[in-house]
Amino acid sequence: MEGGGQRPAPAAPPGQPQGERLQLLLRRSREAKNCAYCPYSRFPVGAALLTAGGEIFSGCNVENACYSLGVCAERTAIQKAISEGHTSFRAMAITSDMGESFIVPCGACRQVMREFGTDWDIYLTKADGTYIVKRLEELLPLSFGPEDLKKV
Ligand code: THU
Repeated sequence: MEGGGQRPAPAAPPGQPQGERLQLLLRRSREAKNCAYCPYSRFPVGAALLTAGGEIFSGCNVENACYSLGVCAERTAIQKAISEGHTSFRAMAITSDMGESFIVPCGACRQVMREFGTDWDIYLTKADGTYIVKRLEELLPLSFGPEDLKKV
């Protein structure tokens, strides 16, 4: 019999990723961490960015002998997505090896994230995979963004 009595899969939620999609996002951030180039800090970080269209771009921190040229995992992921034509984001997961603390993005990364909106979700994880989720506007309140440039 057509349909087989099974319910259709619910439509993809417009907001937070759930279920398998969220697990994939978290896994991709862990996998990206394994690629971290961090010989100076020895503090590997991975990030995975979910676009509005459902694609995932991951990134790791990439350090440099000229220390100040190091780039965080979050910005690596954003630059990969932007350079592939994606500017609308739903969520980012961030992973580090810290067992006792949730990894949080630095101030520079928060501002770069904010360029692409204030209403998306950042999953902050511990090494054991547990996480908390914050809206970007919680991480960077009273932020300055592209809209402000049009106000003068
Ligand atoms: N780092 C990130 O990639 N993301 C964060 O959220 C915090 C810090 C990197 C920068 C540097 O390579 C190393 O971690 C130590 O600060």
